[in-house]
Amino acid sequence: MLRQGLLLLSRSRQVKDLVTRLPVSSGVVSRYVPGEQIADVVEATRALVADGRLTTIDFLGEDTLDEEQAEATVTAYLELLEALNAEGLSRSAEVSVKLSAIGQALPEIGPKLSLENARRIAKAARAVGTTMTLDMEDHTTTDLTLETLRELRKDYPETGAVVQAYLRRTEDDCRALAFEGSRVRLCKGAYNEPETVAFTDRHEVDKSYVRCLKVLMAGQGYPMVASHDPRMIKIAGALATRFDRPPGSYEYQMLFGIRSEEQKRLAASGERMRVYIPYGTEWYGYLMRRLAERPSNLTFFLRSLLSQ
Ligand code: FDA
Repeated sequence: MLRQGLLLLSRSRQVKDLVTRLPVSSGVVSRYVPGEQIADVVEATRALVADGRLTTIDFLGEDTLDEEQAEATVTAYLELLEALNAEGLSRSAEVSVKLSAIGQALPEIGPKLSLENARRIAKAARAVGTTMTLDMEDHTTTDLTLETLRELRKDYPETGAVVQAYLRRTEDDCRALAFEGSRVRLCKGAYNEPETVAFTDRHEVDKSYVRCLKVLMAGQGYPMVASHDPRMIKIAGALATRFDRPPGSYEYQMLFGIRSEEQKRLAASGERMRVYIPYGTEWYGYLMRRLAERPSNLTFFLRSLLSQ
């Protein structure tokens, strides 16, 4: 119930206006978002790379219906990639992109515009020796996002995509994506989805995650195990052994600020460990999804808000 409530609020303009009065430096925001500027995310990347972790960076923003805003987001990614290259970090950091932030939802022109915009980012990523992964948003966008992936891969086959284990379709999507050269980030899923398309029981989601993981680990692609769940991490390790996958033929991924000690442990044990770092001013939707995953953080969050 609480999770659903928070996910509904993640799309409310009024609550957004109230919550975004919090400075990004307030503890509850900075736990998950290192800052608003490129310099902040470059610094966070440098610190993570220093102890053997890799990163993927998300310029925060989603659901834009404004072409100029979509263009500004593309520019932000191009500048970010240049900065990472200038700092010698572009081979340790890739970028994660939400198609709704680069125009996917614009009436009529959305699909074409977001594909063209994604192409520009993929090209810039390749030019500095790295890659782009498409984030997955709510289920109404899954088909279009996977179609965009197929188009992008014609010129940029290194482009990856996220799939969400809570969707009933995802095991089939994993089968379709488990081919050589395919980079697939498997997460549980963070949106408020109806039972008709998604498992809503936690245990069912976990079981689906394991089934999807099996398909990806048994396949020819490059699985990216995006979870903080100790059980999923253990099962991923066991499956990698079962399917003779050496470290480096798959990777673990977690979000900035969550289970940092476990991230370090995995990296120190010789596994590839990538941290997803969001940055920018549009942190509201991202923060609300993190709170929905961990309602125990809510008291801390409300206290921060009331003290403003
Ligand atoms: P689960 O929610 O069961 O958490 C397991 C444990 O992790 C918890 O017991 C707790 O210890 C810790 N934990 C989890 N969330 C926490 C939080 N917010 N604060 C503190 N501790 C927490 N989703 C999506 O729909 N589309 C996407 O594109 C992506 N992309 C993405 C990339 C990467 C790299 C990651 C790691 C995750 C995503 N997600 C996502 C989010 C994902 O769907 C999911 O909501 C979260 O990862 C939480 O699920 P877990 O697998 O960690 O399990």
